[in-house]
Amino acid sequence: MGKLTVFGFLHEQWTELPISTADVSDQSLVVVGTNVGLGNEAAVHLAQLKPKSLLITSRDEVKCELTKADVETRSGMTGIESWPLELSSFDSVRSFMDNFEAKGYTANALIANAGISTMQYAKTPDGYETTFQVNYLSTALLSILMLPHLIKTGTPERASRLVIVSSEVHYIANRLKGADKWSSIIETINDEAYCTSRQVSLTSFSAGIITCSSVMMNRYPLSKLLEVMFIRELSSRLPTPTLVAVSAVNPGLCHSRLSREVDSNPIFKFAVSIYKGLLGRTTEMGSRTLVHAAIEPGERERHGHYLSCCEVAEESDYTLSAEGREVSNRLWHETLKILGDIDPRVNTIVSEHLTQDIA
Ligand SMILES: NC(=O)c1ccc[n+]([C@@H]2O[C@H](COP(=O)([O-])OP(=O)(O)OC[C@H]3O[C@@H](n4cnc5c(N)ncnc54)[C@H](OP(=O)(O)O)[C@@H]3O)[C@@H](O)[C@H]2O)c1
Repeated sequence: MGKLTVFGFLHEQWTELPISTADVSDQSLVVVGTNVGLGNEAAVHLAQLKPKSLLITSRDEVKCELTKADVETRSGMTGIESWPLELSSFDSVRSFMDNFEAKGYTANALIANAGISTMQYAKTPDGYETTFQVNYLSTALLSILMLPHLIKTGTPERASRLVIVSSEVHYIANRLKGADKWSSIIETINDEAYCTSRQVSLTSFSAGIITCSSVMMNRYPLSKLLEVMFIRELSSRLPTPTLVAVSAVNPGLCHSRLSREVDSNPIFKFAVSIYKGLLGRTTEMGSRTLVHAAIEPGERERHGHYLSCCEVAEESDYTLSAEGREVSNRLWHETLKILGDIDPRVNTIVSEHLTQDIA
């Protein structure tokens, strides 16, 4: 499947996706953001396949308890671990990994699914715009900290998996033009004036969000583009043949809680319900894309790629352009600098497991 076109989008939305049945009896799986939506359905699907272990996350202890009960009841699997993980806090990501390491856990696959789409400008306690930290920076931190564990379980026959849930809306992210000339890409995209500046786009495909003429409208697509770039940069620095296959997955437009913010506006709510009613996949259908990338064979062919409908698809023109490649490379270095200051394990992991290049 190539670029996003109206016909291609409709075709994808109405395509029946394969149900994964791979043997995961020796696999330890981690899914982030499982209390609702795609993550919940992916967790149930994986639990039904009876993996060796399943670790799921929600934002707080209460949601963890409820989600564990829900996933165990729906799947028949017992002994699921359910831990809190709040991506708007780097400390929470670090504590999660401290706990993971202290308990001697292993992982054959991490599905970094949690994400938000918000139109409200707000900063996290760490000082970053919330969409940027939750969808990108914390997801990148978690991915890097999990990398040694994934590498350890990967074999030449079966690479372990890092799956970041991205979106087709990365095609419409249009706020990076000229970013190769910015003195700091991250400082710029985290700047309040940049975040809230009005830039009208009449492109209408998004994850249930009406994208036109809204302040902050481009934060979500931008965050999804950054994820695609992160996967590309990470994959290009992993030795070949890789022991961990990384991919950015598009689940398609799905009926989920992602557009929950617009529910307070009856007009938007109505428009979104029509839009999703006509085109949306069920969360179960969309979640098949996450599960497929995490457990089905063919991972080395998918390595480093953006996937849609469980197949490799071409990234956006911007991502593939010379400027996009330059921006993506610089973004990687800026990201690693920030993450290395947040957690010294990041620098060790990078020097031990990734090929080095000049910043
Ligand atoms: N639905 C779509 O049409 C669509 C399309 C393309 C891509 N996606 C991507 O699919 C992924 C899942 O979205 P969804 O559609 O299933 O949406 P959803 O129903 O809103 O679920 C999002 C999940 O992320 C969690 N989450 C949100 N903020 C978090 C934070 N700060 N820390 C930790 N967890 C947090 C949510 O927990 P709470 O419930 O506690 O907030 C929830 O478990 C996202 O990455 C999204 O960008 C969705």
